[in-house]
Amino acid sequence: MRKTLVILGVIFSTTNALAATPQDLLKQYEAQAKQENSAFAGFSADRGAIFFRAERMHSNGNKVSCSTCHTSDPRNQGKTRANKVIEPIAPIANPQRFTDAAKVEKWFGRNCKDVLERACIAQEKGDYIQYLINVK
Ligand code: HEC
Repeated sequence: MRKTLVILGVIFSTTNALAATPQDLLKQYEAQAKQENSAFAGFSADRGAIFFRAERMHSNGNKVSCSTCHTSDPRNQGKTRANKVIEPIAPIANPQRFTDAAKVEKWFGRNCKDVLERACIAQEKGDYIQYLINVK
């Protein structure tokens, strides 16, 4: 048992440090989602699409959503508030997306806080990735 845990730990830390595929990331978020919610029943691209566009009133009085910066078509380039270009967030238009677990966690951290004023749960992260990898 202990040995299995050590091996799992090694697998997790290497997949975190090295290039991953969106499917690898989904597997990690799936494991987390099951821990967060025993009724977890899989990720949904439809829910991810709604999440991506859902506008929320921020406590600063501005309406904000993921699509505020990433645009409502994730195949398009987006823009930061300072008008800097953001390369497309959908892997079909930008194959580097969701291939670096540390980068993905860093930006989920920042952007969920920015839009939702809280951290995203694993279910939301997985739905989001599931939606974006399904965009053709
Ligand atoms: C204020 C602008 C802004 C908003 C709003 C925003 N993002 Fe982003 N997002 C960025 C920027 C800037 C980057 C990093 C630059 C880049 O990777 O091109 C980024 C990158 C990401 C990445 C990294 C993906 C990868 O593999 O490269 C994820 C994940 C992400 N955003 C998720 C979200 C989610 C989820 C929301 C909504 C809850 C959201 N973003 C809303 C600006 C924004």
